Amino acid sequence: MSVIKKCLFPAAGYGTRFLPVTKSMPKEMLPLVNKPLIEYGVDEAMDAGIHGMAIITGRGKRALEDHFDISYELEHQIAGTKKEGALADIRRIIRECTFSYTRQVEMKGLGHAILTGETLIGDDPFAVLLADDYCVTEGPGVLAQMVALYEKYQCSIVAIEEVPRDETNKYGVIDGVEEAPGLYRVSQMVEKPDPEVAPSNLAIIGRYILTPDIFDILRETPPGRNDEIQITDALMTQAKMGRVLAYKFKGRRFDCGSIEGFMEASNYNFAHVYRKD
Ligand code: G1P
Repeated sequence: MSVIKKCLFPAAGYGTRFLPVTKSMPKEMLPLVNKPLIEYGVDEAMDAGIHGMAIITGRGKRALEDHFDISYELEHQIAGTKKEGALADIRRIIRECTFSYTRQVEMKGLGHAILTGETLIGDDPFAVLLADDYCVTEGPGVLAQMVALYEKYQCSIVAIEEVPRDETNKYGVIDGVEEAPGLYRVSQMVEKPDPEVAPSNLAIIGRYILTPDIFDILRETPPGRNDEIQITDALMTQAKMGRVLAYKFKGRRFDCGSIEGFMEASNYNFAHVYRKD
């Protein structure tokens, strides 16, 4: 059992880059081959020993709840046939995890989405997973790597990777002192800085472990980049107290928030992850 018991999945966004498919379908339900993005996220959380899934939804996201629930009609149809195997993974998820949902009624940024989740999380450290950052690893998943670090350092942790300098304006970017190989004590974090002013090319990707004082900080955090409440700005408040680490995770990330990244992930997944049996 992990010290981190819950994982928050912000999933209220409109997915406008994928229109028209996201008009009536949540972008988190877009499949890499035959499994929706959100399910890969749940797999990664489970791999980290986390079994409480807290999902921030919004209007038009019903399919997410239905996916993590039993479909009696379907169960009845395929009972005793060889198609039952196709539901083995999702059955295990439903059996071993609990799912809770709350709606973000206004789109005021990732920080606002996370604050909306306070009611599902309570007063414990928790993980945050953005399902459109799809990560593949050879060993333990990215969250499992981060939970192991949390056990040692007991402070907020963000996952990072190096990105080309001209792409810093797509990410939260950090600066800090490398305490151990690939592990930085964060001194600076900026949301989507232009390349000329970015403190480094170390970009935050969609995996966080957060200590619960982040909720009080978020309440006091004014809107930042794009006039939205940014988790990056709230984390900077913790960083000033030396309480944020940035970790260069082991593995590969695909940006499934863009069409190009999503197609790349689909092809990779079909070749290397999808089980054809
Ligand atoms: C969010 C965060 C950003 C982070 C990114 C990772 O941005 O605000 O700091 O680098 O996720 O995917 P978004 O991609 O939602 O604009």
